Amino acid sequence: MITRRLFSQTVAAGVGAASWWTEAALAQRAAVEGDFGPDTAWLNANENPEGPCPAALEAMSEALAATGRYHYQEYRGFVAEVARSEGLEPEQILVGAGSSEILQTAVFAFTSPTRPLIFSDPTFELPMGIARALSHRMIRCPLTPTYASDVRLMVEQAAEAGGGLIYLCNPNNPTSTITPKADIAWLAANLPPDTVAMIDEAYIHFSDDPELESAIGYVCQGKDVLVTRTFSKIYGMAGLRVGFGCARPDLIGRMASLRSNVVSYVSSRAVLASLRQLPDLLAERRGRFAAIRADLCDWLREREVRFLTPHANFVMIDVKRNVREVIPALVRRGVAPGRAFPPLTNMLRVSIGTPADMDKFKRAFAEVYAA
Ligand SMILES: Cc1ncc(COP(=O)(O)O)c(C=O)c1O
Repeated sequence: MITRRLFSQTVAAGVGAASWWTEAALAQRAAVEGDFGPDTAWLNANENPEGPCPAALEAMSEALAATGRYHYQEYRGFVAEVARSEGLEPEQILVGAGSSEILQTAVFAFTSPTRPLIFSDPTFELPMGIARALSHRMIRCPLTPTYASDVRLMVEQAAEAGGGLIYLCNPNNPTSTITPKADIAWLAANLPPDTVAMIDEAYIHFSDDPELESAIGYVCQGKDVLVTRTFSKIYGMAGLRVGFGCARPDLIGRMASLRSNVVSYVSSRAVLASLRQLPDLLAERRGRFAAIRADLCDWLREREVRFLTPHANFVMIDVKRNVREVIPALVRRGVAPGRAFPPLTNMLRVSIGTPADMDKFKRAFAEVYAA
């Protein structure tokens, strides 16, 4: 019989291929195959169809004429503002070209051929693509039956390995499920020596579930915790490529020395303008997303279609057959859904788009599901 531990270790080598460790390669992987008309409903990449807020758009158009200069002297103030938005000091954050760059830097800094990346599965695959390309050790830990990260198994694996980087996405992509706050608290309190817990909170703004809690509090307590955030999702600025990591200054220092760039002046201006709209910007957007998501969930429930209770801007739907058969049928009907996420072979990930996008999705899905 294969034990849970043995299972988690033996399948690690099967994750990803060395060729997709760059973000460009990942973008390619996320792309949907097919012919797309101009009115395609793009529900494949968990983007925000609202895009940047009006203040960010205005700030960017004003910034354009000044892009002849590097603006390095403004960067310190920009970082300070991003840190302040989470109640942190500038030394506690690292800004990157999307949170992807922070995830990548953490894998460089905190894993090695002997020091593993310990990850939930399935989850967002970028860190594992990087670890694999570097030939760093990886340990896969299946999600629990409630699709939470198995923090006890992850800690057990880190202890056995003599340390490592634990990667946990909360809410998780692709399942849209959460790891309850008591589990995150347990994880932060029980990290073995030489272990960093990296909590990816790309989608944390999309839920106000009381069981979902940011791990930034553990950063403030000085734990070995790194939290990653992004301006790509609820802020609607995926194309601007800005994200950041929050951690103790010594951990930030270890990552910062592996980066050599700053985000673009246009992007930083858009971020600053968006931060000035807080907290209303996030509350309003969360409310709008929640309403569209609830409508989709009601619609699925009425048709007795099973789905995982969502906490992010996407829903994982049980299509009761291999999703690889369903995706092309949706594409033919003008809907681009998420790709397949093995081992959840019968699940379709659909991003929340505009009400019109979701109407189109419902029409297409009803036909395909009934076929
Ligand atoms: C869980 C998760 N983390 C990080 C990212 C990367 O986002 P970005 O690099 O745009 O910040 C994504 C993108 O979809 C994601 O789903």
